Parts: sequence; structure tokens; C-alpha cells
Amino acid sequence: MTLETFVNLLDFEAPAQEILTQMVYGYYASGADDEITLYENRAAFARLRLRPRVLRGVATRDMRTTLLGREYAAPVMIAPMALQRMAHPDGELAVTRAAAARGIVNVLSTMSSTSLEDVAAVPNAPLWFQLYVYKDRAVVRDMVQRAEAAGYQALVLTVDTPLLGKREADIRNAFSVPAGIKAANLKDTYLSQIDAAQDDSALARYWREILREGGLTWEDVDWLASITKMPLLLKGILRGDDAALAHAHGAQGVIVSNHGGRQLDTSPAAIDVLEEVVQAVDGKVEVLLDGGVRRGTDVLKALALGAKAVLVGRPILWALAVGGEAGVAHALDILLHEIDLNMALCGCRSLADVTRDLVG
Ligand SMILES: Cc1cc2nc3c(=O)[nH]c(=O)nc-3n(C[C@H](O)[C@H](O)[C@H](O)COP(=O)(O)O)c2cc1C
Repeated sequence: MTLETFVNLLDFEAPAQEILTQMVYGYYASGADDEITLYENRAAFARLRLRPRVLRGVATRDMRTTLLGREYAAPVMIAPMALQRMAHPDGELAVTRAAAARGIVNVLSTMSSTSLEDVAAVPNAPLWFQLYVYKDRAVVRDMVQRAEAAGYQALVLTVDTPLLGKREADIRNAFSVPAGIKAANLKDTYLSQIDAAQDDSALARYWREILREGGLTWEDVDWLASITKMPLLLKGILRGDDAALAHAHGAQGVIVSNHGGRQLDTSPAAIDVLEEVVQAVDGKVEVLLDGGVRRGTDVLKALALGAKAVLVGRPILWALAVGGEAGVAHALDILLHEIDLNMALCGCRSLADVTRDLVG
């Protein structure tokens, strides 16, 4: 199968499922409980309609954007996703190389299977770092300082994961990290040493035993903002009041997200609460969104409703499994092409033209 046969981001999943073990596919694909939120992320985008403007001279289009004071090539990023070497031996390096070649930010997970320094060695890669907080604050401070020293441009604190959501595929498959793959940012802690209990997943135990997420409070946000020069974003905000608190506690951005439907099932689709968040922060922090973004039209809908950028999750893992760096490159090119095409079809020459009235 050649990459040309993949025409949209959805095309990558079925072939990836063939390649991956049931356990890894289940970990990547699943949502929490009944997967209602996972489904809703796509359904909510599908319910929205775009109202195009015509005769606006769209022979050339420009999708560059400015985020937290920096210019980026496109309003799209790669969402932080753990353990990418389970998809392909080149893992995070392949994803970062494909993104960097297109000027796209890769948000590296704390749980990456390649160290943050090795990822930062990819030339000209715009990188952000996603943080989970360990019980030991010294470990956290060290990780933040390492990310800053390695040139990461922003710090993304994930706030929707006090405990891991109930992902039933992982329980049924007794998910454990395959031999030879580790959480590479931690010097001594090998995920693979945590054996799955019969009725549990190894990752769910890791959360309870090693991370401090359940104990995180707004004071930790104050503390994090105080120990880094990187702009801080909170990922996993679904309410306007929490977004306003994020601003009050020193965050410069929020990512409206339900963690791809993997945490609280029946929480709303990110796109359905985006406007509430945008209105609550009133331009004081930048608002991004993830969850179910698969099409150029999804990107335009999110931008019209006030997001500065969107993040794409699972399709990147499927493309990685199918074709390594070339697979991810192809997936990104498909999405960039769709954004460009749909800008033209909506009568937009630049992202400044993507205004609220496009969504009706
Ligand atoms: C396999 C997998 C691993 C993930 N790992 C992380 C992570 O380490 N940190 C984090 O903040 N979010 C993590 N997420 C959530 C994503 O960053 C993102 O919110 C979500 O996948 C977006 O939805 P989408 O997959 O529908 O695009 C993960 C998601 C998946 C599918």
C-alpha cells in the first residue's frame, strides 16, 4: 500500500489497526467508559455549518498565525501523546521531523518514549512540552528546567487527569508497556517495570502511585508559573470559569480539551464549549482546542469560534504506525491542503478573515 492511497486523516486508522497489536491499538484508540465523549468530539464538528463568503479574490491564501508572541506556519499542532515508539521504532523523532519540516509545533508528552533532549536535537523543530506532575517536586522542577534549557517554547500543564479515566480496552487487555519502551524523560523509572494487575492497566496504577496529579491545585499552577520563563498553558479546560481562573493564576493560554474522550465520559465536546471559554477570557489568554479535529473544515470552525490553533491527536499515531516519518508527513500535508482549500471555499485569504459569522 502506498501513501498516495491515503486521501484523508481517517484513512490511516484501519491499516494502523492491522499493524499494531490489539493492546497498543486499544490504548491509542480508546476513550473512557461508553466513549460517548469520544464520539461526540466528531459529531459536534459535523453538526456545525460553514457559511461561505464569495467573490473575495482568494487566489492566494496565507495560514500563518501568531501564538504567544511567536509566528507559526499553520494554526495546527500535534497533540501530546505518550509512548509513540509503540507505534513505530522512530516514535517521537519521526513525528517531530515531519512536523518541523512544515513549521508545525509538536507538543511532546512527559510520557514520551524518546527523551526531551533527543527530540530537541531535531533541527529547527518548534517544540512545546507537556507536563504531568510527579509527587516529588524536585523531579518536576528538574524536568521543567531541562525543557527550558533544551529550547522548548511553551509549557503545557495537563489538568484533566487527576486519575486516569476508565479505559476499558486497557483493562481487558491488561495494558502494559512493551519491553524495551520506557518513559524516557525519567532517569530511573521504567514504565515497563510496572506490571499490570489482572483487573487494571499498568498506566492507571502509574497514575495512582507515582504522579501527584490527584493532589494538584491552583497553587501548583502559581508555583509552576513562578519557576519557568516559558509561557504556561493549561490543557483540559472545559468551562469559562476555570479558564478565567487559569488567567488569574498566571497561565497565558488554555487548551479546551476533554483529552480525546479519554477522561470524564459524557463531558462535552471541546468545540461545543469553546465559545464559552473564549468569552470568559476576553482576549486575556490565548485559547486553543483539541479533540476530534480531522478535517480542514474542523480547523476553520474552531478558528471561527475563537481558537487560535488546534491540536491533532490520534491520526498522527495511525500515520506514524503506517509510514513512520513519511506517514506523518503525508497526514500533515493532507490536513494543510484541506485547510488551504477550505479557506478558499470560505472566501478567506488569511486567518484574519476567519471570523465568527462563518459558522452558522
Ligand atoms: C494514545 C494517546 C496518548 C495521550 N497521551 C497524552 C499525554 O501524555 N498528555 C496529554 O496531555 N494528553 C495526552 N493525550 C490526549 C491528547 O493530547 C489530545 O488531547 C487528544 O488525543 C485529542 O483528541 P484526538 O485524538 O481526537 O485528536 C493522549 C491521547 C492519546 C490518544
